[in-house]
Amino acid sequence: METIDLVADVRTRVRAWRSAGERVAFVPTMGNLHAGHLTLIGEARARAPRVVASIFVNPMQFAPTEDLDTYPRTLECDRERLREAGCDLLFAPRVAAMYPRGSEEQTRVEVPGHLSEILCGERRPGHFRGVATVVCKLFNIVQPDVALFGEKDFQQLAVVRRMVEDLAMPVEIVGVPTVRESDGLAMSSRNGYLSPEERAQAPALYHALAAARRSLLEGVGVETVERTAAGTLRDAGLEPDYVSVRVADTLLPPSESDQDLVVLAAAYLGRARLIDNLRVRLGSDAALQQTLL
Ligand code: PAJ
Repeated sequence: METIDLVADVRTRVRAWRSAGERVAFVPTMGNLHAGHLTLIGEARARAPRVVASIFVNPMQFAPTEDLDTYPRTLECDRERLREAGCDLLFAPRVAAMYPRGSEEQTRVEVPGHLSEILCGERRPGHFRGVATVVCKLFNIVQPDVALFGEKDFQQLAVVRRMVEDLAMPVEIVGVPTVRESDGLAMSSRNGYLSPEERAQAPALYHALAAARRSLLEGVGVETVERTAAGTLRDAGLEPDYVSVRVADTLLPPSESDQDLVVLAAAYLGRARLIDNLRVRLGSDAALQQTLL
């Protein structure tokens, strides 16, 4: 596996593959890779003979008060994991290569506010502008046929899908189910911020979502479900930022007739802001199966 930090060199490599008729799959990341990221690489491998990953801790998606400086950077270890997982090329640019004029001077991609300024976007103003801008730029550099994103960041996936559709980008977007620890906690680079005691409390987020899903399947109303889940999180020592039931496709509040829902939550625990979500498909067979989970 080759590691490249210059835009022009990525283009040369990818151009050679494409002219040989090889499809290219792409997995953008911020590094500190765990089994969730590596599952995306595995899915990429299954979809194309050539796999490109990127590692770039994107300053544009962090607010000044957030953890840009302390975000874990583990390039050597990440490189080894990517190589073992069958990645062909790692693009790991410096900030100056991505934003030569500085991120303030960068042309931006703005996805409509009803997708990008709700939920996580409400708490993190400008976050999804930073995500959309960097993902757009990475797509233009790598020019992949297909790109893979985790459903763990459900709103991010929705924002990327919308950008690709609105700007007619010629890339297929694939969502990959959330990879969890054995106790249910969604894997995340930010789990490393948790103390041992906090790590023991953290699965409460998944359990609150699972209970919310069961209640929705039993016909409990959305507001009651959201309120109960937030209370459960507080009782477990987490500080909920939001718990919200939305329509999976649009992230709008559901009406009576909507059946394909998602319950999303974000909560603070010590230094970490944890996010997670679970899909809920109301209606006969699907509902029965999910109640058994
Ligand atoms: P990062 O947090 O490193 O995540 C990279 C990709 O891995 C994202 O698509 C994310 O949804 C996915 N991922 C993370 N944890 C996962 C899990 N437990 N199971 C499955 N997939 C998981 O998300 C970003 O980076 C950035 O915002 C980025 C898209 C790279 C733009 O900067």
